[in-house]
Formats: sequence, C-alpha cells, structure tokens
Amino acid sequence: MKIISIVGARPEFIQATPVSRALRKNHHEILVHTGQHYDYKMSQTFFDELGIPAPDYNLEVGSGSHAGQTAEILVRFEEVVQQEKPDIVIIRGDTNSTLAGALVASKLHIPVVHIEAGERSYDRRMPEEINRLVADQLASAYFCVSQTAVKQLAREGITDNVFWVGDVMLDANLANRPLARRNSTILSDLQLAPGSFGLVTVHRAANTDDPARLANIVTALNQVGETVVFPVHPRTRGALEKLDAQFAENVRVIEPVGYYDMMALEENARIIATDSGGVQREAYFMQKPCLTLRDETEWTETVRVGWNKLVGVDVDVIALEWKTFAPPAEQPPIFGDGTAGEKIAQQLDQLQFSPIRQPVLA
Ligand code: UD1
Ligand code: UDP
Repeated sequence: MKIISIVGARPEFIQATPVSRALRKNHHEILVHTGQHYDYKMSQTFFDELGIPAPDYNLEVGSGSHAGQTAEILVRFEEVVQQEKPDIVIIRGDTNSTLAGALVASKLHIPVVHIEAGERSYDRRMPEEINRLVADQLASAYFCVSQTAVKQLAREGITDNVFWVGDVMLDANLANRPLARRNSTILSDLQLAPGSFGLVTVHRAANTDDPARLANIVTALNQVGETVVFPVHPRTRGALEKLDAQFAENVRVIEPVGYYDMMALEENARIIATDSGGVQREAYFMQKPCLTLRDETEWTETVRVGWNKLVGVDVDVIALEWKTFAPPAEQPPIFGDGTAGEKIAQQLDQLQFSPIRQPVLA
C-alpha cells in the first residue's frame, strides 16, 4: 500500500516513529509535515533524537488562527494527496493538522485511518474536541489507545473497524527510555537531584488564553514549596509575557526540551503537573503522581485508577494536592503493552476499506 502519514505538532512527531517503523516493513509510507510546529525545539529536535524519517513534504504552514492554519493545510495537503494518490491517509490525535488531513483525504475519497481515535473531553470549547469529533466522523478505521475510547466511539454509532491497540506513546516511551538515560544531561545541567523536584507543563488554550487561570497556575507553582521545572511551550511563553508573570525562586522556567531530556525529567521528578494529554500518559508510564491542571480530561482511566487527579487551577487545591496526592501501589496496564505500532501495521495489512463510512441514521 501507498500510505500518507500527516504530522504537524510535537506529540505527533513522537508518535510517528513506532508506527512508521512497523509500516515501512511492508508498505510505502510518505511522511507529510504540515509545519504547524516549526521551532527547532518544537520540531526538528524530535526528528534528530528519534530517528524519524525526514518528511517527504513540509507544507510550512506555520502559526495562524484556527481557520487560517487549517485552511493553509487544506490547500497545500490537497495538492500532495492529488499528486501522490495514496491508498490511505493516516492521521493522529486532535490537532488542526489532524482535522485538515481528514477533510482533504475524505473529500478525495481516500480512506482515513485515525490513530488515537475516540478520545473525548466532552467540552466543545476545546479546539481539539472539535477536531476529533470531525476526524472520527470521517475516518474509515480507528485505532484506540484505551477501551474507554472504543466505548465512546460506539456511543456515537461508530463500531466498524474499531481496534484497541494501546498507546503508541508507550511504544516510544519504552523504546527510548534507555537512550534517554544515556544521552540526557539535563539533571546535571540544572543541578537537580532525582526525586527532588516537580515537573510542570502548560499549553492548553483554556489555560493560556485566560489570564486569570494562568495567573492562578503561576501563583500555585510559586507556593508549592519545592523546586519546579517548567519547560515552557512557545504559546505559554507569549501568554506569560503578556501577564508579566513573576516566578518565585523555586520555579525554574526553561525553554521546551527535547524528548530525551523530557523523559529524564519525567523519570526523575517526584510529581508531575500538566494540562498536556501526552504528559498525563507519560506520568503514568513513569509511575509518577500526576496533577492535571484542567477541569476535565480525556484520560479518565488514569484518574479512575488513582494515578491522576484533576485539580483545575484553584491555587489552594493545587498547593494542597502537590503535597498530599499519593497514588496507590497498583498500576493496571490501561495503555496496552507497548506494541501498538506493530498492532496497527498488522491490522492495516488485513483491512478492506470502503472509501467513505456510511452515515449512521438514528
Ligand atoms: C497544538 C494543538 C494541541 C496540541 C499541541 C501540542 C491544535 C488546535 N492544537 O497546540 O492539540 O496539544 O499543539 O504541543 O492543533 N508557536 C511557536 N513555535 C512553534 C509552534 C507554535 O512559537 O514551533 C507558537 C505560536 O505563537 C502559535 C502558538 O504557539 O500561534 C500556538 O501553536 P499552535 O500549533 O497553533 O497550537 P498549540 O498550542 O501548539
Ligand atoms: N515534550 C517534550 N518537551 C517539552 C514538553 C513536552 O519533549 O518541553 C513531549 C512530552 O514528553 C510528550 C509530548 O511532548 O511526549 C507531549 O506534547 P504536548 O504536551 O505538546 O501536547 P499534547 O500531548 O498535550 O497534545
């Protein structure tokens, strides 16, 4: 098969490798980078560290409004699909690159395969929720990270070609953990002792576009009474500057880090606080307590089994849970066994696609 995989944002690069490696044994994969993320630390560093094949196309769309960015991807990706005439297009997750990939391919009658399908926050103010809802309506095959996602798709009438394979982020995590241990020097660079700090990431629109929520997060981090390492997403850096945020000495604000450094920070943190989907799951893989700086999460299983706590942005709640939150000893394998990439490739070898999924009538 000739397969186009479309990626554009940081988590999509990390997820690309396990799938590409498995697919390329039997298929011709063309990798298209939309250019949604473009700073070296948001993009190229992952290609270098993870050995991701160089993109066959870079659409170089850059940043913009949702409409502007999505529209640019639509126009430029359509040309690539028309030229390459792939058998399928693989999209992943819930970014604007995901949405545009789904729209272009389905309108050209190319079956869309959605990896990390069926995730829902049930909050339509989240741009990602809109992207996933549309992508799942248009897809012809669905690879789910969790059983919850399978059930959520079924509730929307989507039951054909739905497969639970686990999380390709876990594949990447397991494969790269030894390399991260060998290659990362971030602990010594920042003079951090293992277990002596908390790790924080923030980039959701709900937190960065709302100055009151962001100010609460800053106040809470200043009050936790422990060293905090905070690699700052460029979107968040802009929002912090606008807010003129002042951090206390315990908060180490740094540039976004590469994957190995991030893994080293996660593995050696005492606690993780984040609004990132990927980092919530990685906290689970690394067996670290996770505080989620949101009011809801897609990764409800991590909350249900007691390893993740939704703390929102209330200063007192964050400060209290930072000190007291303690997950149980048990950790069920809710994200599979780290072979999701292989499972996806095997399943794709067997699937027969009808180009457009029939609409489900109530
Ligand atoms: C996007 C995804 C989000 C995902 C996140 C991963 C959408 C709607 N959102 O959010 O689901 O969790 O990526 O990180 O697709 N910027 C730079 N340099 C870069 C990239 C971004 O400076 O290399 C700045 C720009 O000011 C840009 C802003 O960050 O406007 C937001 O970037 P964008 O890709 O639109 O959304 P993210 O917040 O990164
Ligand atoms: N990540 C990274 N460096 C950082 C912050 C995050 O390598 O400075 C990695 C993180 O380990 C995870 C992925 O980026 O694998 C998550 O991406 P992000 O939080 O940007 O997006 P989300 O997962 O929320 O869509």
